[in-house]
Amino acid sequence: MRIIVTKDYESMSKRAANMVAAALKEKPNLVLGLATGGTPIGMYQVLIELYKAGQVDFCQMTTFNLDEYCGLSPEHPQSYHYYMNHNLFSHINMKPKRINIPDGTSGNMEDECLRYEDAMQQAGGIDLQILGIGVNGHIGFNEPGAPFGGKTGVVELTESTIEANARFFESSEEVPRRAISMGIKSIMRARRIILLASGNNKAEAVFHAALGPVTPDLPASALQLHPDATMILDKEAAALFMEKYGDLEVTFSL
Ligand code: F6R
Repeated sequence: MRIIVTKDYESMSKRAANMVAAALKEKPNLVLGLATGGTPIGMYQVLIELYKAGQVDFCQMTTFNLDEYCGLSPEHPQSYHYYMNHNLFSHINMKPKRINIPDGTSGNMEDECLRYEDAMQQAGGIDLQILGIGVNGHIGFNEPGAPFGGKTGVVELTESTIEANARFFESSEEVPRRAISMGIKSIMRARRIILLASGNNKAEAVFHAALGPVTPDLPASALQLHPDATMILDKEAAALFMEKYGDLEVTFSL
């Protein structure tokens, strides 16, 4: 695993956006896996700036989002459909038919999960997957204990995730209790993975994910088994690595 430590949230976001832009230049019909939450918003803003400056072209790109809450329609302001439109898609030249996000309102969740998994295969698999990480080490909505062999499925959110995500809702009671999420196996099939983390509340999770035992108790530890996984961290998220390995602006491999 490669660890890139950047000085702050802005540098982390630029670094990640530049890596996505480079991947798109190399492969204009890139299949990109996307995350929501607070962490990637800065990266999306830089991608929008690069697009407006004529430096990237998204017209051939296909995207697959990691997850969506069950029961929230695409118009719901806290749905991940809405988030993606608001934070990225409505500002760039993505073709709507190439945007894929699980349907959290499907009448048949089991079919929807199979359909989504199949759509990823049909698209040729994910070239580059962007991930955030939960304070409990979750990736997507794969909470501690989720099997490494899991594919796209319906998952129950833990109390800690509900609490963490309550900041986007009026109250924690409004946070949906279930979501559709790519499984760890679906994520691990991506040819390349970039995990972003910012802030000291993520320091423990990223440190143990990279250096601790590989265990479903810490879902992100599965990334140790991936041949091309990179963490881009700001200095606060990297605090425990820096204690162990020294100062800033370093890139090292584990
Ligand atoms: C979002 C997702 C989650 C988040 C994680 C971190 O699509 O799958 O795993 O990446 O909960 O969220 P933030 O960035 O809000 O701290």
